[in-house]
Amino acid sequence: MRLEGKTAIVTGSSRGLGRAIALAIAREGADVLVNFASREEPAKEVAAAIEQLGRRAILHRADVSNGAQARAMVQAAVATFGRVDILVNNAGITLPKGLLETSEAEWDRVLAVNLKSVFLCSQAVAEGMIAQGGGRIINIASTAGQTGSLSGPAYCASKAGVEGLTKSLARAFARHNVLVNAIAPALIDTEILYWRTPEQWKTTLESIPLKRLGDPNDLAEAVVFLASNGGNFVTGATLDVNGGLHMG
Ligand SMILES: NC(=O)c1ccc[n+]([C@@H]2O[C@H](COP(=O)([O-])OP(=O)(O)OC[C@H]3O[C@@H](n4cnc5c(N)ncnc54)[C@H](OP(=O)(O)O)[C@@H]3O)[C@@H](O)[C@H]2O)c1
Repeated sequence: MRLEGKTAIVTGSSRGLGRAIALAIAREGADVLVNFASREEPAKEVAAAIEQLGRRAILHRADVSNGAQARAMVQAAVATFGRVDILVNNAGITLPKGLLETSEAEWDRVLAVNLKSVFLCSQAVAEGMIAQGGGRIINIASTAGQTGSLSGPAYCASKAGVEGLTKSLARAFARHNVLVNAIAPALIDTEILYWRTPEQWKTTLESIPLKRLGDPNDLAEAVVFLASNGGNFVTGATLDVNGGLHMG
């Protein structure tokens, strides 16, 4: 097992990619705090599945765009696990609207959930990771932040911001052995994609060189790599997990 004895927080792990990440990390030996915003039932199932693997799980509701809630989430992990070795900033929302249709409040919400949360949660774990001599922060960005997409300007801007923030934190914390990386996925089969019309689906699938949607486990394996010894000399990077959609 590649993460035996480690402890992790995965934001937005009630479903989708976060669920797959939390389970993959637990299968590799880590205890996991399962965070959700509103859907408690699926989050409970993820926590139960982690416990069935023989790991400890904490179920924790928090809106990670709220500083007090983000800090309380990290405190809950430290209170039970004693430390946080791995933070996966995964929680996110989309807003597939054009510039002219996007309201100021919608812009602020997308930027808060997708980008400010990465700042808040990273800030909340940083001191502990420095004090314990290291840690891993893995931020889920998006191909949309690299290329622009139908996901809308707020979403694309937030995800481009995640990549910039990742590089900034990687430089700042490298001397403390806190490694900070991003993963930029595209078109992995989760609810976040389901706003597309049948015509948009057709075009989307045709545009992927691997000619299929990604499976959440494709992404989870990339997270395990960056969280484990395989990622020991990787920091400030963005790993593309996109079926070849964009070759940056
Ligand atoms: N799927 C893809 O193809 C794809 C591509 C590029 C990037 N991404 C990124 O990957 C990440 C995960 O997406 P997904 O596809 O798994 O989406 P998803 O199925 O819609 O899941 C989103 C998760 O985020 C949680 N969440 C939303 N707002 C939150 C908040 N304020 N605080 C805490 N948790 C919150 C949700 O919790 P509740 O269940 O409680 O609502 C849920 O667990 C996102 O950052 C997304 O932008 C996905």
